[in-house]
Amino acid sequence: MTTGSLLAVDLAIAVLAAAAWLGGGAASAARRRPLALGLAAFALLATLARAFTTIALARAGWWFAGEKVLIAAPLSLAAVVVAGPRLLRAPGDIRSLAVPLLFAGYAQSGGLLVTLLHGYPASAGVGLLALAGVVAATGVSWRVLGARPSRMVSRAALVVAVATLVTGTGLAVAPEAAPGVPHGPGYPTARTADEPTRRFALTAGTATVSVSGRDVAAWAFNAQVPGPELTATVGDVLEVTLRNRDITRGVTLHWHGYDVPNSQDGVPGVTQAAVLPGQEFVYRFRADQVGTYWYHTHAVSDVGVRMGLYGVLVVRPAPMTGVDVTVPVHTLAGLALPEPRTEPVEAGVPVRLRLINTDSTTHRYALAGTPFRVAAIDGYDLRGPASLVDTAVLIPAGGRYDLVFTAPPTPVALFVDGRPVYSTGPVSAATGAWPVLDPLTYGVGSPVPWSRVDKEFTLVLDRGLDLRGLLPRYAHTVNGAADPDIPSQVVRLGDVVAFTIVNRSQIVHPWHLHGHHVLVLSRNGEPATGSPLWLDSFDVRPGEVWEVAFRADNPGMWANHCHNLAHADAGMTLHLMYS
Ligand code: C2O
Ligand code: CU
Repeated sequence: MTTGSLLAVDLAIAVLAAAAWLGGGAASAARRRPLALGLAAFALLATLARAFTTIALARAGWWFAGEKVLIAAPLSLAAVVVAGPRLLRAPGDIRSLAVPLLFAGYAQSGGLLVTLLHGYPASAGVGLLALAGVVAATGVSWRVLGARPSRMVSRAALVVAVATLVTGTGLAVAPEAAPGVPHGPGYPTARTADEPTRRFALTAGTATVSVSGRDVAAWAFNAQVPGPELTATVGDVLEVTLRNRDITRGVTLHWHGYDVPNSQDGVPGVTQAAVLPGQEFVYRFRADQVGTYWYHTHAVSDVGVRMGLYGVLVVRPAPMTGVDVTVPVHTLAGLALPEPRTEPVEAGVPVRLRLINTDSTTHRYALAGTPFRVAAIDGYDLRGPASLVDTAVLIPAGGRYDLVFTAPPTPVALFVDGRPVYSTGPVSAATGAWPVLDPLTYGVGSPVPWSRVDKEFTLVLDRGLDLRGLLPRYAHTVNGAADPDIPSQVVRLGDVVAFTIVNRSQIVHPWHLHGHHVLVLSRNGEPATGSPLWLDSFDVRPGEVWEVAFRADNPGMWANHCHNLAHADAGMTLHLMYS
């Protein structure tokens, strides 16, 4: 079983156990003897079964099991110790079982809530809060059910509840000193240089665009979705003037995957102020990496990108041959872009398809009718990519794959999630059952380009309750915290930085570091054996552990976030900072 499914099974068992204990308690309070005994017996078994899932998760990695071992397991043990023997004795008065069973239910629920609301890392404060909750709920049940605990017991319970509540709250809510991101003015100014320059102007504004014959309200660059395709030849300087006509929440341009100088990175509040209606900002950087990239607004990025503020950036090598097609996939108001197109290509002509995923979720791409190679991922050429046939590729949110092939005499077609988007003629193919390429084993390996690691970080991705802002929210968290409370990763220029990304949630998190490509070292402990993979966007699926590394060679303050932009806006953003 994968760690992802183990996490799901463990959660399901915990929910069932809690519900069965509570149900058993309620049934015995109502003197429904068989029901009470049946539910309680089930709960006991489920609670014991959880010992196995917890141990299996701990073996997959402490990140997956920390709070389960330290908080949920002791609470479950208390539940079994208190309710188990009484249950086995099956007393004549079934009502006398009510409080012990309810206690077991509260204990099981307490552990479950710690997992759902807090997660990793476990802390004493959270453990005490859970204990306070269990003691208080048990005390209330006692009263309500009219059972008479001795004075001493009820006083002790009250004292324990209050003391743990106070200490727990103190420990859980006390702000830690997180090296914050200095927000506000003081952004570095754009450099100027006298080099051959390609100039573009992009004006952001609300617009009505037509998709598949329907009029759609969008936010667009130059009134089109996607925005104009920006192209350059390697070595050119790109100068892009961004204007905002009427996007009231502001816009910026972020060059996704292009490792520009920090001042050009387009992150509002970090590298520049958002460009407000009537304002402009000029971006300028040298196009010194060839490859397939894209640009998008980084101001209220979730809404902005979804509404259409994105476009393609392609930097080509000097002499260009063959057919070169960009396929930026996007979902605009529920409609799929780009609209399908068909262009015949003469047999023997080299073709490059630049696949770009500008959505917030993974897409599946399948090229039918020809063998092909994956020449590049995230703008970086692969080493020794073998020819593939009838194989699909999964591209994470923000990611790009370049597929190359020589046009055969017969038509070829590209399908995205089963929908044809590009073809050279009529093709019918069922691509749904094709195997999916694993880039970690594709192409020819080469040794890691450094022999030491100077800094290591671990990012544990999860969901949790964030109480630090004005309103409590169920945030997407990193190491138990949400933006802006996630400590920055501080590195020095020249450091080799390794980071481990652990996904203990139930959803995919496409990870994206600005300003650097990271080299994939391993996934779930298995070293990457294929071509070196230098990525800027990669899917970390539930239960997965990725180890990646990069050289800190681009000073500044860089966003490091989930590229499911709704997650990024709901807390899953931190920063990499040079000291
Ligand atoms: Cu494509 Cu910070 O984003
Ligand atoms: Cu995410």
